[in-house]
Amino acid sequence: MSTLLPFARRPRPAPAGAGRAPSAERFISIEGIARRYPAPGGRATTIFENLWLPVRRGEFVCMVGHSGCGKTTVLNILAGLDAPSEGTVIVDGQAIGGPSLDRAVIFQGHALLPWRSVLGNVAYAVSSRWPRAKRAEVEARARKAIATVGLAGSEHKRPAELSGGMKQRVGIARALSIDPKILLMDEPFSALDALTRGTLQDEVRRICIETGQTVFMITHDVDEAIYLADRIVLMTNGPEAKVAEIVENPLPKARDRTQLHHAPGYYALRNHLMDFLVTRSKTLRDEGMPAGYDPRRPPVIRPALSEADAAAIAGAGPDILRA
Ligand SMILES: Nc1ncnc2c1ncn2[C@@H]1O[C@H](COP(=O)(O)OP(=O)(O)OP(=O)(O)O)[C@@H](O)[C@H]1O
Ligand SMILES: [Mg+2]
Repeated sequence: MSTLLPFARRPRPAPAGAGRAPSAERFISIEGIARRYPAPGGRATTIFENLWLPVRRGEFVCMVGHSGCGKTTVLNILAGLDAPSEGTVIVDGQAIGGPSLDRAVIFQGHALLPWRSVLGNVAYAVSSRWPRAKRAEVEARARKAIATVGLAGSEHKRPAELSGGMKQRVGIARALSIDPKILLMDEPFSALDALTRGTLQDEVRRICIETGQTVFMITHDVDEAIYLADRIVLMTNGPEAKVAEIVENPLPKARDRTQLHHAPGYYALRNHLMDFLVTRSKTLRDEGMPAGYDPRRPPVIRPALSEADAAAIAGAGPDILRA
């Protein structure tokens, strides 16, 4: 979509002292952030602290962990809607100082303006991003984004006339229409029926691959993470949650949702994630992290393949491991 119209990015003032040479390996760099809330007796509850995470440009990262471990808090900090108690987040060489149209958020509850049509909701975002753009240009960009999510023909409907899946598509169109540097999604499909969820997962995946979008997404759904993510960040239970490990997805980038369970490495990956959620997320919190754990460099895991899986991957040539 970035080629649709030759809009210039609005120059944004850099927060003081925030400049950093941008790096593709650390397109997003979460650096030692903590979030604490006041607790009774003048104490503080630490939701998480000393959290470090780099995200590569164009990477799709999913964060998985039990309720209350601080996933939404991390996403809100990335969006600039919340500020860390300590630490900083750098995006494309600049420290986050507040909300920005460079970072689009897709919420679980889509948050559409009820009095505006589908076109009006998306066009509103486009004209906020490019306030000097001509009306026809804004409309063309909005229509293109609406068509991309399969809603051409519904431009003049109001949110009340749309199904849950259609509303969520409008939220996705609105986020993508502003050509964001990063896309932030907080359980965007969890309220949808299985069929709609699958269709939207397919569309989001296709769009993100086509546009090279960098994505940070929260999900409770292990299969969704396996289908969408390049890397899966596993959080221990809260409070004082930690990044237990970063799991590399060994499945080929060219994945078919309906055939995933036949892919070599699928069961090793799925079992690893399930074991973590069922047992290790709690025992690591209760018994502490293993000796040598360094929060600045959480362990990077590639779940062990069975011999048959390893042979199948080797036989398929090097491309199958392209993640
Ligand atoms: N304003 C607040 N004051 C005090 N505690 C808060 C506040 N907002 C969030 N918390 C606490 O922070 C913790 C993390 O909340 P967060 O919403 O980030 O969790 P989550 O991992 O997204 O959970 P879920 O999976 O249920 O969405 C929770 O224990 C929550 O009670
Ligand atoms: Mg949450």
